[in-house]
Amino acid sequence: MSDSPLLDRRGRPLRQLRLSVTDRCNLRCQYCMPEEDYAWLPRPQILSLEELARLAAVFVSCGVRGVRLTGGEPLLRKNLPELVARLAELPELEDLALTTNAVHLPAHARALRAAGLKRLTVSLDTLDPQRFAHLTRRDRFDEVLAGIDAAAEAGFRGTKLNVVVQRDFNVDELPALLRFGRERGIEVRFIEYMDVGGATAWTQQMVYSRAEILEDLREAWGEITELPRRDAAPADRFQLEDGTVFGIIASTTQPFCSSCDRSRVTADGTWFRCLYARQGTSLRELLRDQGEEAVRACIVETWSARRDAGAEERFALKERRGPLQNPGRPADEDPLLEMRTRGG
Ligand code: GTP
Ligand code: 5AD
Ligand code: SF4
Repeated sequence: MSDSPLLDRRGRPLRQLRLSVTDRCNLRCQYCMPEEDYAWLPRPQILSLEELARLAAVFVSCGVRGVRLTGGEPLLRKNLPELVARLAELPELEDLALTTNAVHLPAHARALRAAGLKRLTVSLDTLDPQRFAHLTRRDRFDEVLAGIDAAAEAGFRGTKLNVVVQRDFNVDELPALLRFGRERGIEVRFIEYMDVGGATAWTQQMVYSRAEILEDLREAWGEITELPRRDAAPADRFQLEDGTVFGIIASTTQPFCSSCDRSRVTADGTWFRCLYARQGTSLRELLRDQGEEAVRACIVETWSARRDAGAEERFALKERRGPLQNPGRPADEDPLLEMRTRGG
């Protein structure tokens, strides 16, 4: 299949799957998990590694060519390399990546690489240990640095660093973060602060825009050239005069929904087409009761009807834009509404 790709109502193919393996995390970043405790996905509903692999294989048969494992923090899931090995066997899959906070990379980098994981993205927003502790409410900065080193030692190349940029928090560190990446051969991507589920304290004022980020980096590092787009990936890519490449993900001020080829599946098998969607489609019972063909039929039918453009709709709200979820929203509400469950 997929010589003629499955297209949605806006002509967008289904190409990337973000597969969340747990909704739990060992950090508590203020912009994602501002509360200490949450309602978690009920255990019996969490898919086994076997079920996750079967679901991913169905998505691949529908045209998906890249899978990214996410969380929560995916390295909290036991025996993750077993899932990686299963996915690495899928011949049509061109890319297999994982987004992590790196805390557990020293223990797991080698096994993940041996199992066939191709790429890593590490989330790190500051190089200041005290700021890190304040932002994440955990004192684990040294483990993150050790994790980044462990990834390189395990042979990972093409590692990326995700930096969520917040005014009044880390904007003074952007040039230093870029240097940190350059010294390690890591592509840094600056991400505009997004008003997604979980970011209950989001304000427009806190967003530091793509334009502002570029201005700061130009001041620090000189001329910047924008590189041509390669694919439907969310990052715009740029180059410094010395060849250093970096990215900016401007989904708050310049949404890229028109080229969105992504889907996300949560650890309980709920399928969301859009990061901002309120409603998902449960594939769990379909897989458990009826098997792959039924899941496949559901994916084809649902994707064909897809119109999602969540970030564009948020953008259109202009000054009425606020957090997607109410500030002070009880943390025991629906975990499926949270960014930590959808894996970004
Ligand atoms: P690469 O293939 O390495 O470029 O991965 P990626 O950029 O797709 O994935 P990553 O996990 O690094 O995501 C980076 C940021 O982009 C996160 O903050 C995501 O929430 C955001 N992002 C990823 N996919 C989407 C999307 O479909 N829509 C929007 N609006 N933002 C997204
Ligand atoms: N705005 C922007 N990025 C976010 N992430 C989590 N919450 C937000 C937010 N409110 C990022 C994480 C991680 C990626 C998967 O999503 O930092 O790098
Ligand atoms: Fe895709 Fe929704 Fe993100 Fe737009 S907001 S790029 S439709 S996931």
